[in-house]
Amino acid sequence: MKIETRKIEQAKEFAEKLMEKMTLTEKVGQLSQFGNSIYGGVESFFEDHYPEGKVGSYLSIHGAQKLNGVQKRLMEETPNHIPALFAYDVIHGFKTTFPTPLTQSFSWDPWYVAKESAKVAAKEAYAAGIRWTFAPMVDISRDPRWGRIMEGYGEDTYLTSEFSAATVEGFQGDEIGAEDTLLACAKHFVTYGACIGGRDYNSVDMSLQTLLDVYVPPFKAAFDAGCFTCMPAFNDFNGVPCTCNKYLLQDVLRKELGFKGVTISDAGAIAELVPHNVCANIKEAVELAFNAGIDIIMAFDPYNDNIPALVEEGKIDIKDVDAAVERVLVLKFLAGIFEKPFVDEKKQECFFSPEHRRVSREVAKRCPVLLKNDNGILPIDENKKILLVGPIGDDPKAILGGWAGPCEPAQTITVLAGLENRFGKENVTFSMGCSIEGSEEDNENIKKAADAVSEADIVVFAVGEHSGMAGEANSRSDISLPGMQEKLIEAVAEASKQKGVPCVAMIFSGRPLTIFSWRDKVDAILFAGQLGTEGGNAIADIISGDYNPSGRLSCSIPCSEGQIPCYYNSLNTGRPALGKWVFESKYRDLQIEPAYAFGYGLSYTTFEYTDLKLSKDKMSQDPDDYISVSVDVKNTGDRAGEEVVQLYIRDMIGSRARPMKELKGFDKIMLAPGEKKTVEFTLKNSDLAFTDWNMNKVTEPGNFTVMISKNAAESVLFASFKVE
Ligand code: GLC
Repeated sequence: MKIETRKIEQAKEFAEKLMEKMTLTEKVGQLSQFGNSIYGGVESFFEDHYPEGKVGSYLSIHGAQKLNGVQKRLMEETPNHIPALFAYDVIHGFKTTFPTPLTQSFSWDPWYVAKESAKVAAKEAYAAGIRWTFAPMVDISRDPRWGRIMEGYGEDTYLTSEFSAATVEGFQGDEIGAEDTLLACAKHFVTYGACIGGRDYNSVDMSLQTLLDVYVPPFKAAFDAGCFTCMPAFNDFNGVPCTCNKYLLQDVLRKELGFKGVTISDAGAIAELVPHNVCANIKEAVELAFNAGIDIIMAFDPYNDNIPALVEEGKIDIKDVDAAVERVLVLKFLAGIFEKPFVDEKKQECFFSPEHRRVSREVAKRCPVLLKNDNGILPIDENKKILLVGPIGDDPKAILGGWAGPCEPAQTITVLAGLENRFGKENVTFSMGCSIEGSEEDNENIKKAADAVSEADIVVFAVGEHSGMAGEANSRSDISLPGMQEKLIEAVAEASKQKGVPCVAMIFSGRPLTIFSWRDKVDAILFAGQLGTEGGNAIADIISGDYNPSGRLSCSIPCSEGQIPCYYNSLNTGRPALGKWVFESKYRDLQIEPAYAFGYGLSYTTFEYTDLKLSKDKMSQDPDDYISVSVDVKNTGDRAGEEVVQLYIRDMIGSRARPMKELKGFDKIMLAPGEKKTVEFTLKNSDLAFTDWNMNKVTEPGNFTVMISKNAAESVLFASFKVE
């Protein structure tokens, strides 16, 4: 929800009056954030800084009683009694954990799944005294080796932009600063997900056109939804670190996107300008970062220690300090903490409430992607003897995923518990089979699991990564199942084959994994991601058929690491792999298509698409001119289910080659058996625009193809139109 101009003006007036009473030291204190989580630091509140007002905000401390105590002392002991903002990485839940953002994006249902998850997360975090979250993370990623793909919404700009806006609205509610809401923060500005080699924190080098057309739009979506803070990324962009990159922080963020809010560095990112080799010491780093546009330093004293001297030396303009301090005070005003600096400790009774658990389960079941279901093995009938095999089966933490905040794994409904709840303890046997990352007992346990097949009607694997294998600083060069899990699948699937017992594999991971080598050994595969506190119940809802799986991939699943970067909206090249002659863009040893395409996902029912219609076949150059697109979709199966109807376009000829496909619309619809609905999209002239060679945003005249698709690899209906 865009913040009303009137409200911002009111906040500015308040800030200006307050600043008249503030010393330079106190002003810089408002630009300084403290906290305990930077590199595992112990918890301390820097009370010795209070008399000079050197603490403006905190990160990673929480708890109503603790924060009320810190706030009370800080306001009493600081010169102008300015309350601190308490921030936390509330990424996908605070106590009640929701699916990770990547898992949420498999739902293709941002306005329910992401928004409702963020709303509950905000309510629980607010109860603990938090007012500001460092989320949503809206970094596009085309590289599943990168661990932080887990925190974003996949490879596509349009889909990520929708999730970005929905998450901001979920956190901030209808009015910024209202009770039970959080200030959002769009991060990491920008291109962090394109780190070379998928290696976290590594350099990024790309064209400005790709920057502006692929990586920037999800930030615009967050700001248009009312997000008022932004965190630049650790990486260098074309050699200049984002933390001191004036082109990014001034030309793009402030001018191009019109961002009026507060920027905050990432943890330690200012000091890291020294190892980035763009300056010699912390004082130069502070000068570079502040002058590029970093308002708040995360964390500790480099601003307190250096900005007064840099102002004195004329290297930082006091006007810029005042502008930054005003933005921070406006932010605090919008957060409502001048009126309500404390929180009612009783509010923490909402943690893990039945309603919060219900929402967590409802959103979680909408995420898993059914990749394979040979012979309709799924759903599993009642009274079948299920053998659950795999190290994720009874793991209460892996299913929560990384960045799970002050979660409580003991509250998790594990996969085992979920299956027992749904099918009855007497029908579920569990055999771990092996550990997640490998241990001496694995071979023996794999044998035990294979032997247990004899008593089963169906084998269900729960395999994948533990919660610390994705997320920050967790890039993997090999993204196959870790440890001996592939051997476990092979051994148990072989035993099952001998006994004619079908197998289902459920993958719980923070990233897409390469499963090409074993996928033919099982009858069905569910890519479940990391589902959160109610994950076991949610996955049981799906494999029992109580809920028909409706997830679709938001990121391509590569056959192997050798295909990475692997994404659907690539260019055709001059030698597309058509199999016509040897000199084509291909690999000798592997297909070029991913194992599973962006947008892919099966259902327990089937759908038919007919009657694609365009309202007209010509569009003018008026940015608001548009074409209405409609298509009929019918459920041709015997079970109700949801279909994600996907609209892609292709600009057939451009002054710069255009992607073979670009997602420009999607709609998730529920259809009863036999039911048909008409789905409508609006394609505006401005939706077709791209950044040309001369850096102009243009919609060029020419022919366009519309593709109504089940996924990026399966377009079913085509039409064309012309831009004049
Ligand atoms: C981390 C992350 C950032 C997070 C911050 C505070 O290093 O890069 O996403 O918000 O530190 O925890």
